[in-house]
Amino acid sequence: MKQRDEMDVRQLERDIPDFYHVHVFDCLESTNTWLMGHTDLPEGTVVIADAQSKGRGRAGHSFYSPGGTGLYLSLLLKPERNMEVSLLSTAAAAAACAQAVEEIYGVSCSIKWLNDVFCGGKKIAGILCEARLQAGGDMPQAVVLGIGINVHPCRMPEDLKELAGSVEAFAGTEKPRRILAARFLNIFLKYYLALDQRTFLNAYRSRSAVIGRRVTVMTGSGSYRAAAIGIDDACRLIVRLDCGEIRYLSSGEISIRL
Ligand code: BTN
Repeated sequence: MKQRDEMDVRQLERDIPDFYHVHVFDCLESTNTWLMGHTDLPEGTVVIADAQSKGRGRAGHSFYSPGGTGLYLSLLLKPERNMEVSLLSTAAAAAACAQAVEEIYGVSCSIKWLNDVFCGGKKIAGILCEARLQAGGDMPQAVVLGIGINVHPCRMPEDLKELAGSVEAFAGTEKPRRILAARFLNIFLKYYLALDQRTFLNAYRSRSAVIGRRVTVMTGSGSYRAAAIGIDDACRLIVRLDCGEIRYLSSGEISIRL
């Protein structure tokens, strides 16, 4: 962007439902880490940082979060339901992100199960969902849903260049990050309030980069090839092994390669 893209909180709050309460920081270690330390705040608390010094991805990876370029946003949820909600909320957020990017930039996005959003062949967004459990149960006391979207073009480190890109490098247009944040939060809330009805699933499935493809499933102990044949109502990936066996994948420890 030619001028610095400041996050105007007042304007953002005008464009999103009252459910949300937004806090904006110049730099945090990680918006997820910050919110996991403040789970006493009300549901709907949104934390946005212009930059993260220790942005975190799944499976202990870091998430590259330079200042002034990406949308680094975490959202506090307090669903009174079991842990299935984390998986569904993550998938709903991926669908909401893909839709928001498409509407604002006029591009198409795809979703690599479970929660990587791609645009123009590059990963433009990822989601990290973490939960604090109630003592002695599997009910979450709080869920922190963190999303990182590479919005404005930036110089990617060598090891990310092949895989990751930014929305605007592909779309060729520039918008303040606030516009994308607002659209994402509006779409996500509709999906979240109707999580039981799985209203996000059509948007999720129709953008799947995986269904109908052969994939490599990587587990803790090795990997195997299979055909991805669908995504069930619990957002598990259904795969068929060459021997005909059908498996339902839901573990956060499994990753797939196309
Ligand atoms: C992934 O692709 O593995 C998930 C990346 C999640 C990044 C976001 S940025 C906002 C929030 N804070 C973090 O430290 N991580 C998430």
